[in-house]
Amino acid sequence: MLVDTFGRTATDLRVSLTDRCNLRCSYCMPPEGLDWLPKPELLTDDEVLRLVGLAVRDLGVTEVRYTGGEPLLRRGLPDIVRRTAELDPRPQVSLTTNGIGLDRLAAPLAEAGLDRVNVSLDTLDRDTFKRLAHRDRLDDVLKGLAAAQAAGLEPVKINAVLMRGVNDHEAAALLRYCLDRGYRLRFIEQMPLDAQHGWTRENMITADEILERLSAEFDLAPDAEHDRGSAPAESFTVGGGPATVGVIGSVTRPFCGACDRVRLTADGQVRNCLFATEESNLRDALRDGAADAELADRWRKAVWAKRAGHGIDDPSFLQPARPMSAIGG
Ligand code: GTP
Ligand code: 5AD
Ligand code: SF4
Repeated sequence: MLVDTFGRTATDLRVSLTDRCNLRCSYCMPPEGLDWLPKPELLTDDEVLRLVGLAVRDLGVTEVRYTGGEPLLRRGLPDIVRRTAELDPRPQVSLTTNGIGLDRLAAPLAEAGLDRVNVSLDTLDRDTFKRLAHRDRLDDVLKGLAAAQAAGLEPVKINAVLMRGVNDHEAAALLRYCLDRGYRLRFIEQMPLDAQHGWTRENMITADEILERLSAEFDLAPDAEHDRGSAPAESFTVGGGPATVGVIGSVTRPFCGACDRVRLTADGQVRNCLFATEESNLRDALRDGAADAELADRWRKAVWAKRAGHGIDDPSFLQPARPMSAIGG
């Protein structure tokens, strides 16, 4: 088991498969992109499976989520998913993606054993999409969403980060779009994780603000059926249910006390938190011939050192050295 000194157990492993992306969302990376990790530093498919297998068999991990950067850019993804779903005990296998390429890949991924997908969609307006993500790919994302649903990767969850003066006027329209199609929408507070360090508290649309805006147009009520538990999203029924909307108030309503996550970066570093300041290098240990027992021991130690919370409100808070795209969403 992966436990920490606060009694939390990490059962949800989030694995970044690449730090590259085909979008440039402003809350994540600059328009010119970043210095990508050199290929030899990335875990190979076999190395990913070795570490994921260890986590599932020996360390109590029950859910494996592949992220990026953009995980659909990883060529071997369907095979990685298939090998993950073949592990014993079989973990839940999910994916967080920007949706580009899902129109082609949703069916093969579902076939390979993928259980569900979370897709980022911040706007329904083509010009706003171009402004926000610096690429003209809105139609590809919408096609990807439809394909995911058709392939049975349900519930299809949508992540929307609202930004002041950019897309915050679209909250109601996004919710209507998702309600009409049966997608489960979650609004996310922007976190200080962008490579450009452009986050400000003033520009963050808070959970309170999101709820206030939505309540002007929809009848929202706390959703007793989807208790937050260790999930980041608080759920609300819309119009008396069964439709719901989620709010992920990572900054103002942190869920750190119930966090069950641990991360593996694309270059094989264990991070015990999105905001961790230290990483544990499993890749080099693995390449130096470490046995499973030693890798498991390092992994346990890394999780043991997890801090109580993200500390964004501390005066001494420092943004992690690596941006979200390199850490894994
Ligand atoms: P499920 O609820 O299992 O579907 O997944 P999820 O919502 O955790 O995953 P997803 O990758 O869709 O992440 C959505 C958002 O949750 C991210 O944008 C983050 O804002 C937030 N999030 C995910 N993991 C963490 C975490 O460890 N810490 C914090 N503070 N926020 C997180
Ligand atoms: N704050 C909040 N959410 C973010 N995401 C990426 N960067 C940030 C940020 N700075 C979201 C993406 C994606 C999920 C993995 O994380 O929208 O849906
Ligand atoms: Fe790409 Fe996701 Fe970052 Fe957007 S948030 S640039 S989709 S990695």
